[in-house]
Amino acid sequence: MGKLLTFGVVVAALLGFLGERFLNYRSKMLYDREVENIELPNCRLLKGIDYGSEDVVILPNGLAFISSGLKFPLLPSFAPDRPGEIFLLDLNENDPKPVVLRISRGFDLTSFNPHGMSVHIDETDNVVYLFVVNHPNHGSTVEIFKFDEENNSLLHLKTITHDLLPSINDIVALGPDSFYATVDFYFRATTMKVIEKLLYLPWSSVVYYSPTEVKEVASGFYFTNGINISPARKYIYFVDIADRALHVMEKHDNNSLTPVKVLTVETLADNLDVDPITGDLWAGCHPNGWKLFVYDPENLPGSEVIRIQNILSDEPVVTQVYANNGSVLQGSSVAAVYEGKLIVGTVFHKALLCDLNEPVQDTE
Ligand SMILES: *[C@@H]1O[C@H](CO)[C@@H](O)[C@H](O)[C@H]1NC(C)=O
Ligand SMILES: *[C@@H]1O[C@H](CO)[C@@H](O)[C@H](O)[C@H]1NC(C)=O
Ligand SMILES: *[C@@H]1O[C@H](CO)[C@@H](O)[C@H](O)[C@H]1NC(C)=O
Repeated sequence: MGKLLTFGVVVAALLGFLGERFLNYRSKMLYDREVENIELPNCRLLKGIDYGSEDVVILPNGLAFISSGLKFPLLPSFAPDRPGEIFLLDLNENDPKPVVLRISRGFDLTSFNPHGMSVHIDETDNVVYLFVVNHPNHGSTVEIFKFDEENNSLLHLKTITHDLLPSINDIVALGPDSFYATVDFYFRATTMKVIEKLLYLPWSSVVYYSPTEVKEVASGFYFTNGINISPARKYIYFVDIADRALHVMEKHDNNSLTPVKVLTVETLADNLDVDPITGDLWAGCHPNGWKLFVYDPENLPGSEVIRIQNILSDEPVVTQVYANNGSVLQGSSVAAVYEGKLIVGTVFHKALLCDLNEPVQDTE
């Protein structure tokens, strides 16, 4: 009897614990709120991008890379069997159209599943290195390509994998073969990933990688996501999407990080872009976590873009720049700016290009 009672207590405690973890997960990751549309004056959907535009990186000369076709555990994909692609968009053109970048032979295109991206520009040799997080066959790698502007192609240079990088979400390049990566899951296997998140375990981290040294530089997060660097390359910004937190950390010469501050936002921020001129942060966000996972064409996940000014000051200014209830754009994951142009990308849907300089039409 005593044993049975003890067993009962243990089971009850375990269920209570699991229940509490799950409620935590529900209230955080499945965050969901009504979206009031905020329109921008001059926006249009980019032709040819219909299967996601999860991350966007814009070069100083206005050429934008857009990663498309992400297949991610539990999230929808409108083309689950179609390999991913990288699009190029020239923002200097009046009416830019995305073109698919060709990728050099020897790289397995059929399993290409691109996710976060970053660029490193070698100023002396004028070489652009494009870093792409890839999930071939549910794995996790970083692919480094050399961009050839002459023939719109990517030359594959190397594939990086590491034990400390079991599941990479996003990266920020530091050199031709070094980077910080957000490691969103501790586990590699999809089932374990789901359990990890349902139990709301703080096992997500940030890892520094170079060919000579790999180390965890920040840990104890619920779901690290977008990562980027300040224009002077002194601060690292990254998102814990589940905790609705934007972390600012100081980067030291030995590449270790120390916490500076945490800004909480009222939305699920995904990727981060940093305006190279102003230093403002732009985030593509999910106002509807629940609707993202339980995709229902009658009840669509919305999109939201926020801008954060003066992040290091005592009073950062957070502005909701764009919002849509899903009628135009579903599941926005990134917002990147170049000279008054804004590209809003999505996990599995379309991509929007807006002109922020266009004056609002006075209808009176
Ligand atoms: C693009 O041009 C470079 C030389 O400029 C060449 O090495 C490369 O193979 C070309 N790529 C493709 C996909 O044709
Ligand atoms: C890295 O540099 C920081 C700042 O100078 C220092 O506090 C820290 O101890 C260093 N870490 C290692 C592992 O050397
Ligand atoms: C979403 O916004 C559009 C445009 O304002 C509106 O027509 C539509 O009814 C809204 N949908 C929902 C589900 O609120």
